[in-house]
Amino acid sequence: MIKNEIEFILNDNLIKIKDIDTNVTVLNYLRSNKKLTGTKEGCASGDCGACTAVTAELNNNKLTYKSINTCITFLYNLHGKQLITVENIGKDKLHPVQQSMIDNDGSQCGFCTPGFVMAMFGMYKNKIKPTNNNIDEYLAGNLCRCTGYKSIKNAARKMYSYGRNDKFTKNKKITIKLLKSINKNDVIIDNNKKKFYIPSNLNNLIKETQKLSKFKFLSGGTDLTLEVTKQNKEINSLIYLGNNKDLNYINIKNNYLHVGAATPINDLIPKLKNIYPSFADMFYRYGSIQIRNVATIGGNLASASPIGDCSPALLALNSSLLIQGKIQREVHINKFFKSYRKTTLKNKEFIKEIKIPIFKNCIFKCYKISKRFDDDISSVFVAFLLNLKKNLIIDMNIAFGGMAATPKLASKTQKFLIGKKFNYNNIHISKKIIENDFNPLSDMRASSQYRNIVSQNLLERFYLEVKNNRSETIN
Ligand SMILES: Cc1cc2nc3c(=O)[nH]c(=O)nc-3n(C[C@H](O)[C@H](O)[C@H](O)COP(=O)(O)OP(=O)(O)OC[C@H]3O[C@@H](n4cnc5c(N)ncnc54)[C@H](O)[C@@H]3O)c2cc1C
Ligand code: FES
Ligand code: FES
Repeated sequence: MIKNEIEFILNDNLIKIKDIDTNVTVLNYLRSNKKLTGTKEGCASGDCGACTAVTAELNNNKLTYKSINTCITFLYNLHGKQLITVENIGKDKLHPVQQSMIDNDGSQCGFCTPGFVMAMFGMYKNKIKPTNNNIDEYLAGNLCRCTGYKSIKNAARKMYSYGRNDKFTKNKKITIKLLKSINKNDVIIDNNKKKFYIPSNLNNLIKETQKLSKFKFLSGGTDLTLEVTKQNKEINSLIYLGNNKDLNYINIKNNYLHVGAATPINDLIPKLKNIYPSFADMFYRYGSIQIRNVATIGGNLASASPIGDCSPALLALNSSLLIQGKIQREVHINKFFKSYRKTTLKNKEFIKEIKIPIFKNCIFKCYKISKRFDDDISSVFVAFLLNLKKNLIIDMNIAFGGMAATPKLASKTQKFLIGKKFNYNNIHISKKIIENDFNPLSDMRASSQYRNIVSQNLLERFYLEVKNNRSETIN
């Protein structure tokens, strides 16, 4: 049965919604409709973290807590989840996270504080050890312009000393019961000529896609929502893939990693760690934890940005995509990008799966160059896949982002290096060849000259790291 309303838990109460505009963000709903103004708007583009709230989802009878940027999340994405806001966590008694912020002087003007508190709450609920690295990872998506980060980080470091169980742990059974009571059937919201469709499985998704004439697919929304919040556009029909169980999976089969296109990047990182550690490490610099909790590889590829980080890595790895329309077809990623922001996706087609080969005897490394270490878009990105036998280059893929209108292989450089000795002399020659592979543009992220020099230096860096068998560092 198809429903015409979504259901979610807002703090402790089950809410049903059907008549709010389908382009409204969670942030605007909280502040304007519910007068829950603790959640702040700083940038409205996912960059500052002031709007952070936390969702809880039911997976195998367990609650999974995720911090999200409410400014770039559509309200109707909340179907089937609990949304926890800053007003609720310390309603009866300050939450350990809040108490620690006070005791460690973690706030001055206070504008960023609710966002930091909720980012720390996400860390607390996931029982993350408060090491320096973990604190940096969990707070990298939040900006503060007056307190300074030292005292905020101290608050995160000490938050567990105020107790490890909060009211959410005590109320777990009630929350799970409430979440289970939510009907998981398909939802179609239809108001004021705008539609928001939430298909629960692949068959229904295909059927509905064929029926509708003009719509956009929505996964994490970390790209698409900005069309509404930053470009003031209206999106009339949206098909939400984030709740679709048939697009959310990670399997290893026949030497391939199969990733459902709507799987959040954060779910993928632990699996990638054992297979391609450098790829997994790169993802720690992909947006922030709030972004990675919802952003998908499918959305990254479909947006076809020349500086998207997944594309060059997947290109170097010879990946392919399962594309679903009325029928399914498999496309090698090298054929997927046609020109600037254009792909081979036809009307009504969506990416169902990303198929990543597992190369057991090859070296894979990737490097991201950006102006800021955390939460920044690449100026240049490169991924290398090297098959080396007795110091002879049997095969090699070198894929760049940020060097052309699409993610692109350095074909001339590859051709020169394959069959040659992996030595400094050949790398030195290939540094000149790489200049002929690309003609990068200058923009606010980097000049053409900078991009050329960096691409050459990254080639040399890769060589030196492989030669010296250094650990897989990226920056
Ligand atoms: C603060 C911030 C930081 C960011 N940092 C990075 C970064 O470090 N590196 C990086 O590469 N990107 C970054 N991004 C961009 C964005 O987060 C990524 O591209 C992300 O992977 C997009 O995935 P999504 O699921 O959110 O896509 P969505 O926003 O849901 O969709 C993006 C586009 O793809 C289409 N689409 C979505 N899923 C599918 C599908 N399965 N099939 C066909 N079409 C589909 C949508 O219609 C839309 O056109 C950042 C964005 C923000 C806001
Ligand atoms: S308001 Fe800045 S991340 Fe949402
Ligand atoms: S306390 Fe003022 S911005 Fe952080």
